[in-house]
Amino acid sequence: MQIYLDNAATTPVAPEVIESMISVLQDDFGNPSSSHGYGRKAKALLENARRTIATTFHCSPSEIIFTSGGTEADNMAIRCAVEQLAVKRIITSPIEHHAVLHTVTYLQKQFDLEVCYVRCDATGNIDLAHLTELLASDVKTIVSLMHANNEIGTYLPLQEVSRLCRQHNTLFHSDTVQSIGHIPLNIDELDIDFITCSAHKMHGPKGVGFLYVNKRNKIQAFIQGGSQERGLRSGTENTASIVGMAKAISLITENLDQKIAKVWGLKKSMMDQLQVGIPTIRFNGETSLEKSLYTVLNCSFPSSKNDGMLLFSLDLKGIACSGGSACTSGANTGSHVLRAIESDSTRQSIRFSFSHYTTQEEIDAVSTILIHLFQN
Ligand SMILES: Cc1ncc(COP(=O)(O)O)c(C=O)c1O
Repeated sequence: MQIYLDNAATTPVAPEVIESMISVLQDDFGNPSSSHGYGRKAKALLENARRTIATTFHCSPSEIIFTSGGTEADNMAIRCAVEQLAVKRIITSPIEHHAVLHTVTYLQKQFDLEVCYVRCDATGNIDLAHLTELLASDVKTIVSLMHANNEIGTYLPLQEVSRLCRQHNTLFHSDTVQSIGHIPLNIDELDIDFITCSAHKMHGPKGVGFLYVNKRNKIQAFIQGGSQERGLRSGTENTASIVGMAKAISLITENLDQKIAKVWGLKKSMMDQLQVGIPTIRFNGETSLEKSLYTVLNCSFPSSKNDGMLLFSLDLKGIACSGGSACTSGANTGSHVLRAIESDSTRQSIRFSFSHYTTQEEIDAVSTILIHLFQN
């Protein structure tokens, strides 16, 4: 038996995405910067992909910059704000992804910036009153707060935070890596400065993503070289992966309401089964459809004979899930997110994350195995 419930770490690539990429790799291998026919064909594919993405998320194609993924896009947004847009102060939170937190720490040291960490509550909700207090400053500031937390799923109220940032004339970056494509997103209505995307979280390939930069922000080169991406991010474009990303975005946003209903049903079913079978179970973060990402369920299990062995026992049974984010689980230092929300360290937390490929049978099988592990 093999059951994959680690979709927040990465998702299986959709067969249609693989097909679209193979066709580019085999036939459309030209360098998009070449002026001959091969180059022009590759360039057309690239610009088609950019248009598809811009249309889907309601922005202008010129506001989409292709990157090597979410990490680079997060780095680019915050570093460009500091190095090019005169930002002297950063407001972020202790539960951000390391792509943001480590960038902020680096910039703080390098440029002697003021960094403020907004408080969050025990379910990972950002304290908006504290954020408002922190926003009252004349120093040029960027707010960097993620939309859906990758470990516990709790949402940031994006629209509200964007409004607060506008009121205070502050730049706003949101790491939307976990939510983009999974929920309807209208960038135009949102009025935000930077948004980040990674294709491999939505059944696209790894090593590709994009940064949305609102056109009012005039940024310059982040990577120097041959002036690709209008001079902002040099390097020969990863055409096949970019085409694959656009395909993945088109696919996942098709019949999105049905996909949301299906995956939310799976999450709810797993919560219900576990609450009946393991009455002392708790969940980290928000769990409702309104307040949390329907693809993520972070379970907090009571102390038992399984302590320290739960992930291993599940892995032995062919079940893939995660003890933290994929980037930190190997380091075994515990989760900075769970520490920040002061989750009980005597309990064991496991993140299960779903996709529309997940089946009810898989949820039933994993729930039964978990309940069994806590009964014997
Ligand atoms: C919230 C969040 N931001 C950024 C990243 C990094 O994205 P990538 O793997 O494309 O570099 C991840 C990946 O785990 C993530 O979950």
